[in-house]
Amino acid sequence: MIEIVAHSEAMREVLRLAGRVAVTDANVLVTGESGVGKDALALFVHAMSGRALGPFVKIDCAALPGELLEAELFGFERGAFTGATQAKPGRLEAAHKGTLVLDEIAYLSTDAQAKLLRVIERREFERLGGRRTVRVDARLVALTNVELEEAVSRRAFREDLFYRINVVRIHVPPLRERREDVEPLAHKFLEAYAAKHGRAAARFAPDALALLGHYDFPGNVRELSNVVERAVIVCDDERVGAEHFPEAVRTAAKVRARQETRPTLALLEAEYVREVLASTGGNKSEAARVLGISRKNLYEKLARYEADAGGRTLEVGEEQKPNVSEKQEPDI
Ligand SMILES: Nc1ncnc2c1ncn2[C@@H]1O[C@H](COP(=O)(O)OP(=O)(O)OP(=O)(O)O)[C@@H](O)[C@H]1O
Ligand SMILES: [Mg+2]
Repeated sequence: MIEIVAHSEAMREVLRLAGRVAVTDANVLVTGESGVGKDALALFVHAMSGRALGPFVKIDCAALPGELLEAELFGFERGAFTGATQAKPGRLEAAHKGTLVLDEIAYLSTDAQAKLLRVIERREFERLGGRRTVRVDARLVALTNVELEEAVSRRAFREDLFYRINVVRIHVPPLRERREDVEPLAHKFLEAYAAKHGRAAARFAPDALALLGHYDFPGNVRELSNVVERAVIVCDDERVGAEHFPEAVRTAAKVRARQETRPTLALLEAEYVREVLASTGGNKSEAARVLGISRKNLYEKLARYEADAGGRTLEVGEEQKPNVSEKQEPDI
């Protein structure tokens, strides 16, 4: 049984709806960006349905060109086309009494769309090159990451088929719109990949979690999963820190953190001055040169930062330590 992480209210609502339709025999359309968990949700619907003990069959409509896809979906009789030396049942037949998942349904050819419509309306079809009508009882779950309405308006997708599969629509929101799920998902993946790669004690440093909290995940849950697996592999002592995430992720999270906190110019200046000072190993003459200001000016600035920090002496490097608090900025 698949375990779906759903801490956010948005994702809980998705699961509630999925659970409610699962027990009916209604066809389901699952929409959402790439990597949000559409496949995972299709499996959830199957597992929660009365067909759970029946077959769960999937076909990716984008993976095969038209003819091959039809052969795969509807099966074929011997001699249906060159190379069809033996009859072969398709995925539809395999899904009898179970669930058939049509991934990337927008890619279905016009021909296949017409045949599928008949399957939905009359629960019957013929194999390619066949005369015998095959009856099938399968629940359809269609997945798409493109706007089907748009495909309908372009006449690339049949409107009647669209209405047939759009009986219940479940939209899985992108991960950036349900940030509460990021941490629990990250922990789940960490545990799984730590076991897989023999790093049983792997754990996140606070800066790693802070960074993930600021990242937008254009690739959604799949990207999070990949980022965590990579980090588990590259970390050397079982501590996964921000430095184990890809450069692009770190930079994007930093930009985002800045946008969120909207720091003052003075704060940005102070941060930058310290960054440069750290990079020169504390050499003030060199830092002043990089910053394009005089040594005197640099001393004045440092004195002011010190005063702003409440008289606390700031040693080079010390300011890099994050304040210990619930919500911290990524230390990158
Ligand atoms: N809420 C979740 N809880 C646990 N695991 C999840 C969740 N959502 C997604 N996953 C996992 O993340 C990975 C990507 O999810 P999935 O393949 O279902 O995405 P998808 O929307 O079908 O993507 P695509 O459009 O690229 O096919 C899978 O390994 C899946 O098991
Ligand atoms: Mg998928």
